[in-house]
Amino acid sequence: MEIDQIFKNNKDWVSKKLSLDENYFKNMAKGQSPEYLYIGCSDSRVSAETMMGVEPGQVFVHRNIANMVPNTDLNVMSVINYGVTHLKVKHIIVCGHYHCGGIEAAMQHADLGILNPWLRSIRDVYRMYKPELDEIDDDEERSNHLVRLNVKEQCINVLKTAAVQKAVTERNLRVHGWVFDLDTGKLIDLKIDSQEILKDIREIYRLD
Ligand code: CO
Repeated sequence: MEIDQIFKNNKDWVSKKLSLDENYFKNMAKGQSPEYLYIGCSDSRVSAETMMGVEPGQVFVHRNIANMVPNTDLNVMSVINYGVTHLKVKHIIVCGHYHCGGIEAAMQHADLGILNPWLRSIRDVYRMYKPELDEIDDDEERSNHLVRLNVKEQCINVLKTAAVQKAVTERNLRVHGWVFDLDTGKLIDLKIDSQEILKDIREIYRLD
């Protein structure tokens, strides 16, 4: 697609929105109060708002390669802190997806330069669940399972932060783990229980 086409699309979108509600952008400019924080993969096929069927203003979004939540990443940590403490979102979603290039790269052996430390956090998840992953013979199914386990571990990483722990305890903020199935377009809920996980990890990770 040419760049010119994108600006044409934008013009059409503006006209469409204004024809339905002449104050659409005026109201939008007043502020945001999304109920959801979405942390997903940068993959161009996994478009958060499109697959969730939501409008601008409904979801605070952060995307990176393989939907990771490393505790030294100032970017994702700032997004979580701002979303929880200031926007007061009610739900945090970590969404992975099948056929994830980041997950597949972490399962191969290659020096990928600056990507190495990023992919290492995915390899750490593999190491934690090595016995159950190694039991799966089919490559695609093993990769799919790592996608699911990685979502679970990133949900746990979200729950290791002070702001989230406080909000889970005080106002029942909920953390959800989802997988987007690229083959069918469907969202799968991994049914993460934030209260239960927090109870499990509190002995080590409790910050209050
Ligand atoms: Co991906």
